[in-house]
Amino acid sequence: MRRLRARVREYYSGTIERHGPTPRGVDWPNAVSQYLRFVQLLKVCDFRTPFSLNDFGCGYGALLEFLAMRHAEAEVAYRGIDISAAMIAAARARWTGRRRAEFVVGSTCGRMADYALASGTFNVRLGHPPTDWENYVETMLSDLKACSRVGFAVNFMLPHDDKAAEDELYRSPPERWIAFCRQELDCSVRLLKGYGLREFTLLIRRKPRTAAPRQAGSRKAARRSPR
Ligand SMILES: C[S@@+](CC[C@H](N)C(=O)[O-])C[C@H]1O[C@@H](n2cnc3c(N)ncnc32)[C@H](O)[C@@H]1O
Repeated sequence: MRRLRARVREYYSGTIERHGPTPRGVDWPNAVSQYLRFVQLLKVCDFRTPFSLNDFGCGYGALLEFLAMRHAEAEVAYRGIDISAAMIAAARARWTGRRRAEFVVGSTCGRMADYALASGTFNVRLGHPPTDWENYVETMLSDLKACSRVGFAVNFMLPHDDKAAEDELYRSPPERWIAFCRQELDCSVRLLKGYGLREFTLLIRRKPRTAAPRQAGSRKAARRSPR
């Protein structure tokens, strides 16, 4: 997995070096599609109360731009994480002095937050075999769960109708990842699709903890039982 990560890092360091802090710098065609993805992913968050957020694969921090535009009143403690040091350097330069925002280089969330988002982070597999890529994605989803108190949201590209092989990209039907999040991560999952892009978004929440059943011989049970 180390070599795979190194290839991904090199790829995105190349895009930001070529195009700067712009949608093309993080491999998106334009800001409209980038923002449309944020609209879907942020549906996992409850904006009525302040919250903390891990933006995993944050690029140059375009999500902060979007939050300022669409949720100016929201109190969000933002942490952007990216595997590419060049990407994080661009993000820090862009957001110098921004309150309640920090950027770190990494390939795990590294710190707990209420929510996490990952937009576009699983899309470019650079010719790695799909099974290797899926193992890698499973690792990242497990980390997103481990570091999210409430829930997290991710997106994936849908397969093309003509099924033409694209070695560079990873596409998947939603069922593959819905099953993983429900069965392996024991989370509840909401699927969003049909929002104008050939992709889908999953809103994934931890299940509320159920109280442990009372032990028959416990002191409380003994106090209450009739003599
Ligand atoms: C398609 S770009 C999207 C950037 C940003 N989320 C946005 O929508 O503007 C994907 C980003 O994920 C980062 N990334 C890819 N794999 C990663 C990993 N394993 N850990 C951390 N960041 C990763 C890349 O460096 C890149 O900045």
